[in-house]
Amino acid sequence: MKYLNIALAKGRLAKQAADIFANTGINTSGLLEDSRKLIITDEENKVRFFLVKPSDVPTYVEYGAADIGICGRDTLLEEGRDLYEVIDLGIGKCRMCVAGPASLAGKLDNIPNKRVATKYPNISREYYQRVKRESVEIIELSGSVELAPLVGLSEVIVDIVESGKTLQDNGLVVLETICDISARMIVNKVSMKIERVRISKILDSIRKQLD
Ligand code: PRP
Repeated sequence: MKYLNIALAKGRLAKQAADIFANTGINTSGLLEDSRKLIITDEENKVRFFLVKPSDVPTYVEYGAADIGICGRDTLLEEGRDLYEVIDLGIGKCRMCVAGPASLAGKLDNIPNKRVATKYPNISREYYQRVKRESVEIIELSGSVELAPLVGLSEVIVDIVESGKTLQDNGLVVLETICDISARMIVNKVSMKIERVRISKILDSIRKQLD
């Protein structure tokens, strides 16, 4: 039997994602070990987990290197990849927001050609073009985005807010909410046909857990 390959995001979601698969009967003990291994295998069930950077999960699934993946809706909106989004797992809940100093509350629309720092240039562009119908300059960063307005790189940021602690600790506030985010299960389009039986079994079991 061929391996069924599952791409998991390293980091915040990893433990919860492992629990979801463990409850379907897959042996995920290797995922909990303190190791730098990137492939964890359950030989008995012929399942392999790939541990990848969160924003790369849809890439592995679209190209078919992984049959299934779990990633945040933020990544799916940003990457816009050709794959099936099959289950809202209801974990990793957060919001995509425009944030900045409290002094800008209620005044955002008065600042022309705002600079917006973000790890999400596509989501930001879409929001400012289609929703706000406003021309802004998008400055792409890879992380620690909250620093940008503090040091004059941008007026505001577009980023995910979960507990709000990062904003609070840096004296920033949510100015506008763009959309709600949660973790999604995604499936490669060809795998969904070829591995239909195995994948459906896993999806059904996960849907039952969620009920
Ligand atoms: C994310 C996000 C915010 C923070 C929000 O960053 O970009 O910075 O978490 O979480 P909070 O509201 O619970 O504080 P991440 O931790 O992934 O690090 P990064 O900035 O290096 O990407």
